Amino acid sequence: MNNDKMNISSNEMKKTRVIAVSSGKGGVGKTLVALGLGMALSSAKKDVLLVDADLGTANLNVALGIPVEYNLWDVVKGRINVDGAIVNIEEHLDLLPGVSGIYEATFWRMRDTEKLWRELDLSLAKYNYVIIDTGSGIGNGVIQFDMAADEVVVVFTPEATSITDAYALVKTLHKEGYDGNIYAIENMVKRQQSDFVLALSLKTMAQRFLSRDIEILGTIPYDAEISKKVRYQELGKYLHEADDFMFYVRSVAKNLLKNGDDIGSYRPSFWTKLRTRLSNILGG
Ligand SMILES: Nc1ncnc2c1ncn2[C@@H]1O[C@H](COP(=O)(O)OP(=O)(O)OP(=O)(O)O)[C@@H](O)[C@H]1O
Ligand SMILES: [Mg+2]
Repeated sequence: MNNDKMNISSNEMKKTRVIAVSSGKGGVGKTLVALGLGMALSSAKKDVLLVDADLGTANLNVALGIPVEYNLWDVVKGRINVDGAIVNIEEHLDLLPGVSGIYEATFWRMRDTEKLWRELDLSLAKYNYVIIDTGSGIGNGVIQFDMAADEVVVVFTPEATSITDAYALVKTLHKEGYDGNIYAIENMVKRQQSDFVLALSLKTMAQRFLSRDIEILGTIPYDAEISKKVRYQELGKYLHEADDFMFYVRSVAKNLLKNGDDIGSYRPSFWTKLRTRLSNILGG
């Protein structure tokens, strides 16, 4: 064991795999993928926390039809502790609700969040997986959530602009020195076979121009029912019944599980990394 590892306190040894679900372009299905992965992993008896880290237009709880009393912003503001804000969705699956319609939240600052970082480190340690549904693009702190996560899943759709934007996100992560695994999932696929070629083109671009390996975890089909279910706040119930659709999500989750499921190994604390990055940028 090297000296760095010997100096790590037991508080910093953690078993949680923190995965950020991100995208270059908005509206590609990050929220759906985050929830789908969360459900697939929790049905495999992993304890999962979904964090709705969209700081502007969070809506995971709305899509699920789950009433929430507190959200991430209330925690930031000290109105409730993290555990008090977390709601249970179903067995093995919890949600830390995000922030919607609070302009101030899109400009959150380090000084608002000291308490949050400390508490979250303790709360996250209770889970096997923490899946962070981020906002889109690389602004509004999104890239900071990605950089602090152990792994990043980039979601894109079979459109030229979506793939270009996905590549732009990968390039940004690479340039920022991101050292975790980067995966990609192609969502809303209408023709499985030919669209997989598009997914591979993202992998090829990253290899050729960045010398970076991206694993394509799989494709998720377009399902016309989904938008309706989101509108009627029945997404969770629908996903339980949609066997054909969930077959693909489960296969993506299986690929995620087989990759680096090295629970028990040391990883620096997610929130410690995030705090360090934000304080560098915002000046504490
Ligand atoms: N595989 C799919 N089949 C059909 N519709 C889908 C699929 N994935 C997502 N959608 C629909 O596309 C819309 C956008 O999805 P979602 O909200 O998950 O995207 P997002 O990337 O999280 O968006 P934002 O950038 O606004 O956070 C929603 O109406 C959702 O129901
Ligand atoms: Mg979303």
